[in-house]
Amino acid sequence: IFSFFFLLFSSFLHPFPPSSGSQGQFPLTQNVTVVEGGTANLTCRVDQNDNTSLQWSNPAQQTLYFDDKKALRDNRIELVRASWHELSISVSDVSLSDEGQYTCSLFTMPVKTSKAFLTVLGVPEKPQITGFTSPVMEGERMQLTCKTSGSKPAADIRWFKNDKEVKDVKYVKEEDSARKTFTVSSTLDFLADRSDDGAVVSCRVDHESLNSTPQIAMQVLEIHYTPLVKIISSNSWPEEGQSIILTCESKGKPVPEPVLWTKDGGELPDPERMVVNGRVLSISFLNKTDNGTYRCEAKNPIGRNSTEYVLIVHDVFNTLLPTTVIPSLTTATVTTNVALTASTTTSATATSIRDPNALAGQTGPDHALIGGIVAVVVFVTLCSIILLGRYLARHKGTYLTNEAKGAEDAPDADTAIINAEGSQVNAEEKKEYFI
Ligand SMILES: *[C@@H]1O[C@H](CO)[C@@H](O)[C@H](O)[C@H]1NC(C)=O
Ligand SMILES: *[C@@H]1O[C@H](CO)[C@@H](O)[C@H](O)[C@H]1NC(C)=O
Ligand SMILES: *[C@@H]1O[C@H](CO)[C@@H](O)[C@H](O)[C@H]1NC(C)=O
Ligand SMILES: *[C@@H]1O[C@H](CO)[C@@H](O)[C@H](O)[C@H]1NC(C)=O
Ligand SMILES: *[C@@H]1O[C@H](CO)[C@@H](O)[C@H](O)[C@H]1NC(C)=O
Ligand SMILES: *[C@@H]1O[C@H](CO)[C@@H](O)[C@H](O)[C@H]1NC(C)=O
Repeated sequence: IFSFFFLLFSSFLHPFPPSSGSQGQFPLTQNVTVVEGGTANLTCRVDQNDNTSLQWSNPAQQTLYFDDKKALRDNRIELVRASWHELSISVSDVSLSDEGQYTCSLFTMPVKTSKAFLTVLGVPEKPQITGFTSPVMEGERMQLTCKTSGSKPAADIRWFKNDKEVKDVKYVKEEDSARKTFTVSSTLDFLADRSDDGAVVSCRVDHESLNSTPQIAMQVLEIHYTPLVKIISSNSWPEEGQSIILTCESKGKPVPEPVLWTKDGGELPDPERMVVNGRVLSISFLNKTDNGTYRCEAKNPIGRNSTEYVLIVHDVFNTLLPTTVIPSLTTATVTTNVALTASTTTSATATSIRDPNALAGQTGPDHALIGGIVAVVVFVTLCSIILLGRYLARHKGTYLTNEAKGAEDAPDADTAIINAEGSQVNAEEKKEYFI
């Protein structure tokens, strides 16, 4: 029973048993792929062999080996192993012309054969980038072509700019009819931009023969462009007496050096306070007369560019309110009271406000007390002066009125004198009354 099943099983494994009766007697081969210049092993196996000869022949039907006997004079072809079960040969330094169908024959009656296809891969040459010029002006068109020959099958070319793949490229492949290899090229077409300056452009060739190590050609782009300029200020709210540092940042290719600083279209007016050191303009002890437009100009062989900074020197006064403390507010109230009584004190108020540090240096309550006392004293003094003045004015006014009364009523000078004399008596009477 066991042998019955064994026979059934083996007949299942070999669905086409040879009709001659020699069971399992047929050659087995495999296709081989080899890189140009490499070595190809051609192996032919026979599971069961009753001492029947094996033979390898090339695509041109020439016999290479008959059992262990060499038939074709070719140093590249060698015997690896020869037995009743196997005939293996190797072909070294394989060339593209070695490609084709090789045949292993088992000399039974009739002869049984097995075909092995030898594929030879053409290795792409190191890629070359053409059309590269350096430097290139910004805005110019660049057409870089990467080319590689000798690949079989045709190699794949990809472009990268700083490791980022550029997809929109033109790919061309041409077959070299004699060698059956391909020359492939790819063109990268773009307008030079300043952002590409310093970028690494690489052309990468991938091919199955390269064993996943691509061939790469690289170029570093050099794009020339007009300067870009920017002014950076150290002080966003410049005030009188402070200083400011203006830095002119310029970028360009070639590097613009040095930069030119001007004010309102002319030279810097005060070289003692306005010092230029390289790209930096420093202005010390700012003054309102420094107001104006400061321009920084950068120039390189491609062109020039400039930018402006409008300087407004602010009054120190403007910063008082946010920085004043409570004692100063008390001072302000007191000075306002003084201002109500005497107009001449207003100027003093203004000056005292302009000098907040001096006020802040004193102790607040003391100052308020002194101010209050001074105000009261001044007020009382002024009231006394005003009262005294009014008394005097009223007295003198009465006297004059009396004198005038007499003169007005008189028709002529003599009468006037008489009347005046009379009125003088009245005045004397009134004077006495008043005293
Ligand atoms: C071919 O056979 C030789 C001998 O067995 C072996 O050294 C070599 O590695 C083989 N080459 C390939 C490509 O299999
Ligand atoms: C095959 O050859 C060997 C010697 O090489 C011999 O001993 C053997 O009997 C032969 N087998 C057959 C089936 O002819
Ligand atoms: C071997 O290569 C030939 C030709 O390329 C092909 O037709 C065949 O199917 C291949 N055989 C195997 C087992 O890969
Ligand atoms: C000049 O500089 C500005 C700002 O840096 C820039 O926007 C402009 O494109 C530049 N002009 C030229 C002609 O390069
Ligand atoms: C500003 O400049 C003017 C004229 O040069 C001068 O009279 C004035 O004192 C200066 N002011 C300051 C705060 O330096
Ligand atoms: C400078 O600018 C400030 C703020 O605009 C202004 O108050 C001042 O009058 C200006 N001075 C001059 C000399 O232009």
